[in-house]
Amino acid sequence: MIDEQLIRETVKDIQDPELKKSLLELGMIRDISVADGKVTLTLALTTSKCPKKEAMVTEIRRVLEELSGISRVDVKLTTLNQEELRQLFPKHPLVGLEKVRHVLAVASGKGGVGKTTIAVNVALALAEKGNRVGLLDADVYGPSLPVMLGLNEPPVWENQMMIPAEKFGLKIMSLGMLTEKNQSIIWRGPLVSRAINQLLGQVLWGDLDFLVVDLPPGTGDPSITIAKSIPQANVLMVTTPQEVALADVRRAIDLFRKFDMRIVGLVENMSYFFCGHTEKPIEIFGHGGGVKLSEEYGLPLLGEIPIDVEIGKGGDSGVPLMASVPDSETGRIFQGIAKKVMEGSRDH
Ligand SMILES: Nc1ncnc2c1ncn2[C@@H]1O[C@H](COP(=O)(O)OP(=O)(O)O)[C@@H](O)[C@H]1O
Ligand SMILES: [Mg+2]
Repeated sequence: MIDEQLIRETVKDIQDPELKKSLLELGMIRDISVADGKVTLTLALTTSKCPKKEAMVTEIRRVLEELSGISRVDVKLTTLNQEELRQLFPKHPLVGLEKVRHVLAVASGKGGVGKTTIAVNVALALAEKGNRVGLLDADVYGPSLPVMLGLNEPPVWENQMMIPAEKFGLKIMSLGMLTEKNQSIIWRGPLVSRAINQLLGQVLWGDLDFLVVDLPPGTGDPSITIAKSIPQANVLMVTTPQEVALADVRRAIDLFRKFDMRIVGLVENMSYFFCGHTEKPIEIFGHGGGVKLSEEYGLPLLGEIPIDVEIGKGGDSGVPLMASVPDSETGRIFQGIAKKVMEGSRDH
């Protein structure tokens, strides 16, 4: 005899894939009814944008359809309301950094060295290796992710939480998404803190292996605010081969060390250029900055990225290199960096 009790028994081991708890015990499976072999129930989600909802519905159907005498399973979807969320979880478990295993902050001494380019492509390379990856654009001086990734929509709010945009398999939030279109804001101290805290604490990041953060360049107040807000972050320092860039990088490394952030390594960008006419790489911006810093600070040099027209194209078209040509020579360098980041990052 199929009754509500049997249905409960049958679905009780199905877990929320992110919360790792029984949906039934969480009260997320509800309103069960059975009539003439037809089961109806409601699945109340933590958010309507839950990426796992299809998987949960499929699993519920599968176990129930295995029961003999069931001809049909209807699963209605709804979301937990704010009160229910509050009762279930004192703090929403998918908001903030609790379920983020590693934070990888991409930093540079000064702007224009390719920090955002590297943040985006390393994030994609990490995702390609099977990691769940978020990308946070915290560059107060020039939030450029929306343009680089072709994101135009403002963030969606639900129950006072922001839901990150999704593109190329990444969860993405940008300071640029918190402002009106084309409105430039001069982010001063308290405003920076508030915005950063919002991006860290009010966004439904969920279960992530890596949150890649595009930091502001340099060692000004915004960098300090962020260094304080994200303890235990791993830092990836981006530099160029020129000597001038190095003084800024040194200052930045000293700052992060002061805040006990761990520098996983250096990436030298715009290291060389293959013009196509000779076999030899041309070192347009000089040579050896990355190696020199690496020796001086005892930090590994995780990769040297050439000047590549595909990167420039990607910056304009909204399709980054690791999404268009991941197996190109430059793509493989990003894959190598991602691999070393995975080996060298400490848990958040
Ligand atoms: N290795 C590279 N090859 C070609 N163009 C690059 C490379 N790295 C960066 N760029 C281009 O240089 C510009 C600045 O890069 P960006 O990542 O925005 O720097 P930052 O975030 O440090 O200010 C962008 O237009 C980008 O497409
Ligand atoms: Mg940038």
